[in-house]
Amino acid sequence: MTSDQTKIQAIIDKHHGQKKSLMAILQDIQAEFRYLPQESLRAVAKTLDIPLIDVVGVATFYRAFSLKPRGRHTCTVCQGTACHVRGAPRILDEFEQRLKIKAGETTEDKNFTLETVACLGCCAIGPVVVVDGDYHAHMTVRKVGTILKKYRK
Ligand code: FES
Repeated sequence: MTSDQTKIQAIIDKHHGQKKSLMAILQDIQAEFRYLPQESLRAVAKTLDIPLIDVVGVATFYRAFSLKPRGRHTCTVCQGTACHVRGAPRILDEFEQRLKIKAGETTEDKNFTLETVACLGCCAIGPVVVVDGDYHAHMTVRKVGTILKKYRK
């Protein structure tokens, strides 16, 4: 058994392998690995005796779960109309250039995942970027480097 498989099994065992704990198990695996590795979905399905397609269904339904590896930090750049007219596309370009990834991707060193969102509901302070839950208001292209520096390991 690899160390990842051992960790996955320990999480499942912690919940006594109960079907009703499916969500809690997936949340714990997501917290441990920052995504749900395919092998974890198979292990959960097998141990809980739930069809794999049902486990995958839950994993893909909730936005809190990711089937792709994610970075330690998540940068979300709002691309809604209010932010868009105030320069959000240029801010996104700057993130993409500095991180050398496109929106929806994770850097090779697994430090950053870059995402976009249609509106964060705080248009008055746009353009807005959220990093790990911290809101950065009135964003500019020039602030991108400073923000990334703060979160680099
Ligand atoms: S459009 Fe960006 S917060 Fe609403």
